[in-house]
Amino acid sequence: MSTATTTVTVEKVGGRLGAVISGVRLGGDLSAGTVAEIRAALLAHKVVFFRGQDHLDEEAHEAFGKLLGTPVAHPTVPSADGRYSFPIDSDYGARANQWHTDVTFVPAYPAFSILRAVTIPPYGGNTLWANTATAYAHLPEPLRALADSLRAVHSNDYDYAALRPGVLPEQLARFREVFASTKYLTEHPVVRVHPETGERTLLLGNFVQRISGLTGADSRALLALFQTHIERPENTVRWQWQVGDVAIWDNRATQHYGVDDSDDHERKLRRVTIDGDVPVGVDGVASVLLAPESVPDPAFGIASGASPAEPATV
Ligand SMILES: [Fe+2]
Repeated sequence: MSTATTTVTVEKVGGRLGAVISGVRLGGDLSAGTVAEIRAALLAHKVVFFRGQDHLDEEAHEAFGKLLGTPVAHPTVPSADGRYSFPIDSDYGARANQWHTDVTFVPAYPAFSILRAVTIPPYGGNTLWANTATAYAHLPEPLRALADSLRAVHSNDYDYAALRPGVLPEQLARFREVFASTKYLTEHPVVRVHPETGERTLLLGNFVQRISGLTGADSRALLALFQTHIERPENTVRWQWQVGDVAIWDNRATQHYGVDDSDDHERKLRRVTIDGDVPVGVDGVASVLLAPESVPDPAFGIASGASPAEPATV
């Protein structure tokens, strides 16, 4: 059976990142050529969007993910389907309204995240992405040199309640008992050399606890400085979700933020993440898992960050 020839188009929606890809029906049966076009657009534009992918279910979402690499389970949160589908549901209090890169508290955090909109509120609930490669490239030279020399410790055990005044007790309990059930500490370079494009990217975000070797006050000041450059509106793109939309981002070159402005309306998305590799700084030094001794096996498959290339703990 031959597959009908489709014309894949890629149209930029932001100056520094973001493009809409049309002419593709996502699934596990795409041709190698189409997958190569999607991957090239993803590396070039950092986040790509597809409309009208309502046909996807958990299985087809995962099957498509396998065309980009190896799906991985979240290190602590159980999946929605017993396999790789990660639930992002408003009723769990899962409001990712902090700038972050997914799962950076483990060394080989995901290369790609593929997010599918299942239930969308009548207003609000947009997601923003920021380009961490252009954020680095636009830094003044002395700040680039400073960033090149720094390393930072990332953890999933942050002060959730302090960031969310008015948090419900059940949301706090879920955070402590599920999300932070195993406490991870990983030291990454602040500037990561992208393994596919060679670009230098800022590796920071919500999971950073501190910059290694600095006092708390100095660490907070420097983190705020770099993070301000990442979050500049010119460095971001914003997506207004419709049911059936799919967004794929290069998790090694972006941060993202889920805007919490849809009140109590239901918002439900499903995410499949694709295995990454251990970051390397501009000096060639790799990230290191500080705790626990290894990433435990999840209930299904392999965990994000448990890539065999993980360096020995020192
Ligand atoms: Fe996220």
